Amino acid sequence: MKLRRTLPFLVFAAALVTGGAFASPTDDIPMAGNAYLGSEACLDCHESAELHMDFNVHMRIESFEVQGREVGCEGCHGPGKLHMDESDPEMIRSFAAGEGYGDQVCMECHATKNLYEWSASTHSIEQVECQTCHVMHKADTPSPTRACVACHPDTVAQMQLPSHHPVREGKMSCASCHDVHNSREFNLKTRMRKADLCYTCHQSIEGPWVFEHAPVEEDCSICHAPHGSVVNNLLVANEPTLCLQCHDFHFHAGYKSAEADEVDVGGFERENPFGPQGMNIAFTTSCTGCHSHIHGSDTPSQTTPSSGRGLIP
Ligand code: HEC
Ligand code: HEC
Ligand code: HEC
Ligand code: HEC
Ligand code: HEC
Ligand code: HEC
Ligand code: HEC
Ligand code: HEC
Ligand code: HEC
Ligand code: HEC
Repeated sequence: MKLRRTLPFLVFAAALVTGGAFASPTDDIPMAGNAYLGSEACLDCHESAELHMDFNVHMRIESFEVQGREVGCEGCHGPGKLHMDESDPEMIRSFAAGEGYGDQVCMECHATKNLYEWSASTHSIEQVECQTCHVMHKADTPSPTRACVACHPDTVAQMQLPSHHPVREGKMSCASCHDVHNSREFNLKTRMRKADLCYTCHQSIEGPWVFEHAPVEEDCSICHAPHGSVVNNLLVANEPTLCLQCHDFHFHAGYKSAEADEVDVGGFERENPFGPQGMNIAFTTSCTGCHSHIHGSDTPSQTTPSSGRGLIP
């Protein structure tokens, strides 16, 4: 993880020292004697229908929109004259996997908006190139989720669990929460805390609350698995187990006194309403049955021990 984060800076530093160590996108095809001949010329030999470029935005942009750069087929594939002269596939940029020119060619025009962070992003460092996800010559753009499944089968499998965000139903996509081009932690689609991503869609949970619940303020994923869970509400564990990771049983939910017929309430021994069955009852308790405002409340709870902080409306 450390290396992943520092690598881009090392590369950046190295580039400063060497005065630009990056290969130019044009290094892969000879420029001498080469020339741009325009997209029409390509279609003499390449079937337009097979390339599915008719409705692609890249065939509709004008040079002035991209600061005078070459547009059309040659905007990506480079000058085509030498290739056409000999019909030589070696003389044209093919974006074959592993060549490594893909990103540079696309970034000539796309180093804008979020994409300027690309070179510091996890995918870029892992050498996942633009064309791995954005297939240019396809009739239909593959759905973002389909582009991810090849490399993240575990995550996509979690979406099949009973409780899940409606990604497989097509109402959301991986891109609802992730911007894979950015360099933030987990590529989350927020510049702020993780919870702020969740609040963009779950406003009702957002405080500020008079009576807060500490783990909610800290990180939703303490209790929720964003990709899917066997437990309702995307919870990482069932109640009361979930709550008992941090809290003790208390008077309504089990006994913890030496005497089976007594319970400990605020340090005092009192009669145990459930008797020796208290512990069994406790394990079938839904704590949120009473503490229903689990994410926070503005209404003080009415009994004494927790000074109104009971998260019971
Ligand atoms: C005179 C015919 C002809 C013209 C015109 C032509 N090509 Fe080709 N092209 C070929 C042939 C033949 C191949 C190799 C066989 C194949 O892959 O279909 C090829 C292959 C390619 C490849 C694949 C290279 C590889 O390594 O697999 C690309 C990309 C390509 N052409 C792009 C272009 C572009 C862009 C233009 C216009 C600038 C263009 N071609 C114009 C004949 C032509
Ligand atoms: C936005 C960039 C872009 C533009 C514009 C573009 N291509 Fe491509 N082309 C690619 C990429 C990337 C690949 C590698 C395979 C893929 O992702 O589909 C490719 C692959 C190819 C191939 C080889 C593989 C195949 O599908 O046959 C040919 C031939 C080709 N392009 C021709 C053309 C021609 C002709 C045009 C113009 C009509 C064109 N391309 C416009 C990016 C582009
Ligand atoms: C000549 C400049 C240029 C090059 C080179 C280029 N693009 Fe684009 N691309 C554009 C412009 C302009 C748009 C439309 C405005 C926008 O969405 O930013 C666009 C749009 C896109 C879109 C959004 C498509 C949509 O339907 O909204 C994707 C994805 C994309 N480009 C990917 C790529 C990839 C991948 C490459 C490299 C294989 C590439 N581009 C190369 C200029 C370029
Ligand atoms: C790991 C997969 C992946 C890679 C690699 C990737 N993209 Fe994307 N890209 C996506 C997804 C997913 C979307 C969002 C689609 C949506 O919102 O439905 C997207 C959207 C875009 C868009 C349109 C929206 C925007 O943010 O402007 C552009 C342009 C784009 N990508 C360009 C690129 C370029 C250029 C590269 C390489 C530098 C690249 N992408 C690499 C998956 C990827
Ligand atoms: C070609 C393989 C490949 C594809 C396709 C791909 N990824 Fe990844 N992704 C990786 C690798 C490798 C890593 C780094 C190792 C890891 O965390 O699994 C990664 C990491 C991530 C991370 C964690 C980033 C971080 O900084 O910790 C997220 C989020 C992610 N990918 C989302 C996506 C989404 C969403 C898509 C589809 C749009 C996608 N990926 C497509 C290979 C891929
Ligand atoms: C509801 C929002 C949301 C959606 C939708 C979503 N993710 Fe995530 N993803 C997250 C959050 C939040 C994290 C950080 C995990 C954590 O905090 O432990 C994450 C982490 C990841 C990671 C890195 C850590 C890990 O768990 O492996 C990958 C890879 C990833 N997501 C891929 C995907 C893919 C692929 C999809 C689509 C199939 C997707 N995500 C859909 C919110 C989401
Ligand atoms: C892009 C919008 C969006 C974002 C961002 C988002 N969610 Fe959701 N969430 C939804 C939708 C839509 C549902 C399904 C609501 C329904 O079925 O009624 C949902 C449902 C849920 C559920 C209830 C699941 C169930 O089984 O009923 C939980 C818990 C949840 N989200 C937590 C989170 C957390 C935690 C995050 C942040 C990591 C997050 N959400 C981010 C849209 C979003
Ligand atoms: C202490 C554990 C815990 C934390 C932390 C937590 N939640 Fe929850 N959340 C729960 C429990 C328990 C439920 C089920 C409530 C019920 O059954 O009444 C739930 C239910 C939900 C639901 C679905 C029901 C509803 O109220 O709409 C959403 C959405 C949700 N949580 C979002 C979030 C978000 C967003 C965060 C982070 C800001 C978060 N949760 C943090 C425990 C937690
Ligand atoms: C990750 C640990 C953690 C988990 C899991 C957790 N809590 Fe908490 N909870 C806390 C902390 C820390 C406080 C604040 C305690 C304090 O301020 O003394 C708190 C406070 C409370 C309070 C308010 C009482 C007070 O004294 O402030 C209630 C009620 C509560 N939690 C119920 C629950 C329930 C019900 C669950 C399960 C759905 C749960 N908690 C899960 C850590 C957790
Ligand atoms: C029958 C209802 C009920 C159930 C079920 C219940 N509680 Fe409580 N809980 C209360 C009441 C009432 C208070 C006192 C609230 C106050 O002081 O305002 C309380 C107080 C608390 C407190 C504050 C600390 C204290 O002892 O004063 C915590 C923490 C807590 N409960 C956690 C839990 C957990 C964890 C569960 C599940 C194992 C649970 N509760 C189940 C009703 C319940």
